[in-house]
Amino acid sequence: MIYFIYLVMFYFSIIVFLRISYPELRWNWNLEKDKKLNFPKNFFWGTATASHQVEGNCKNNNWYNWENNFNSDGKPRIKDNQKAGLACDHWNRFKDDVSLLKELGVSHYRLSLEWSKIETEKNKFNEDALNHYSEVIDFLLENNIVPYVTLHHFTNPIWFDELGSFEKEKNIDFFINFCKLVFNRYSDKVSNWCTINEPEVYSVMGYFSGIFPPGKKDAQLSAEVQKNLLIAHTRVYHKLKSLPNGKKCKIGIVKNVMQFDPSRRWHLLDWLACRITDTVYNKMSLSYLKYGKIKINIPFFINIDYTNKDAVGATDFFGLNYYSHVHLKFQFDKHEFFTNTYPKNDIMTDMPYTIYPEGLYRAIRRVKSINKPIIITENGIADSKDDRRGLFIKRYIYAVNKAIEDDIDVRGYFYWSLMDNFEWAEGYDMKFGLYEVDFKTQERKLREGSKEFIKIINESK
Ligand code: GCO
Repeated sequence: MIYFIYLVMFYFSIIVFLRISYPELRWNWNLEKDKKLNFPKNFFWGTATASHQVEGNCKNNNWYNWENNFNSDGKPRIKDNQKAGLACDHWNRFKDDVSLLKELGVSHYRLSLEWSKIETEKNKFNEDALNHYSEVIDFLLENNIVPYVTLHHFTNPIWFDELGSFEKEKNIDFFINFCKLVFNRYSDKVSNWCTINEPEVYSVMGYFSGIFPPGKKDAQLSAEVQKNLLIAHTRVYHKLKSLPNGKKCKIGIVKNVMQFDPSRRWHLLDWLACRITDTVYNKMSLSYLKYGKIKINIPFFINIDYTNKDAVGATDFFGLNYYSHVHLKFQFDKHEFFTNTYPKNDIMTDMPYTIYPEGLYRAIRRVKSINKPIIITENGIADSKDDRRGLFIKRYIYAVNKAIEDDIDVRGYFYWSLMDNFEWAEGYDMKFGLYEVDFKTQERKLREGSKEFIKIINESK
């Protein structure tokens, strides 16, 4: 009997330790809601997009192949067999879209270069595509919009995929080659560069859950791909820094942070699921950027021990993408050892996320440990009814402000996204846009909820 009592005491002391170490922050919005925002004068506002999601006619990349193939069980890869297709036709309509940026009053625009349109075959570069991006950059600058250019946002040229893409460390050379070329071409005009967008999302979705291409389900490979993307970031960073304009440009990684909170705060296995998931999703890249080290050993799943001294401090800013947290509930299943649950009182978005602004504040506080200026490179809500967007914007920006009041160096905020676009495996059903897009006519229309963003920008000037 006494041993049983010891055991119970031991169990609960671990639970108490975990609950204290990883609190799930909650604010009382009745008290917070009337507080005034106060942003530094040089804080900037922007919106973000990515090539495959908005440009249209990306027919030479891995996503095009993915959208046009079926699962082994005959089911389409993308919800309802949707395809990116013409997307927002941003390729041809970018000038009109810049006027949307002006209408919002933002000063910055984050866009990505479509590698597969530029390097159509290995070492074969398309001048028309290169000129196109030149034109886009010039037009943004003429309109006093600062471009933030992302070099890799999920899509690979088909030829690169055929070589094994980021599954093989040696393939990083091909990516560096592309980065060098575009940097030499645009760096006299573009001063801000994002290397890789969300290594953890690319690797988890593509190699663990299998929802993104190449649809593999292999935990070890997933972690190795993430590791290779992190190495790619470091190598691109140093390469670009060594080129003309390198020193004066700001070059940074973009990482998605998501918290994993236990569904049942008294359940040790829920906590275990959270800590394991956090190690792979967040800790791996944070430890890499801070100490140049990746050391993960999850028996039967993942074993990586890697050190790269060049990684330490090798990012000029930390690009933070934040959407929400998830609650994990342990389950006995070899492949997915947890399911997601959502607290009853939380407001859901159209994605399987709740509105959780406190999480953005938590994420900022956490990535502060990297000791680099932080830029919110993505934050937004999928809300087709547009009945939560205003609240989302208000509360998440409040969270950013609160972090700044704690003296954390947050420099800017990009809303995801300027307009509705192709949301990967979800197709066009997720409406993240400040502007609603009618995909039949390509008409853009400002959403009511987006006016909250315009108001905040105006008040902060
Ligand atoms: C990502 C990407 C974006 C998404 C956005 C909304 O996080 O997956 O950077 O391309 O569209 O985050 O889910």
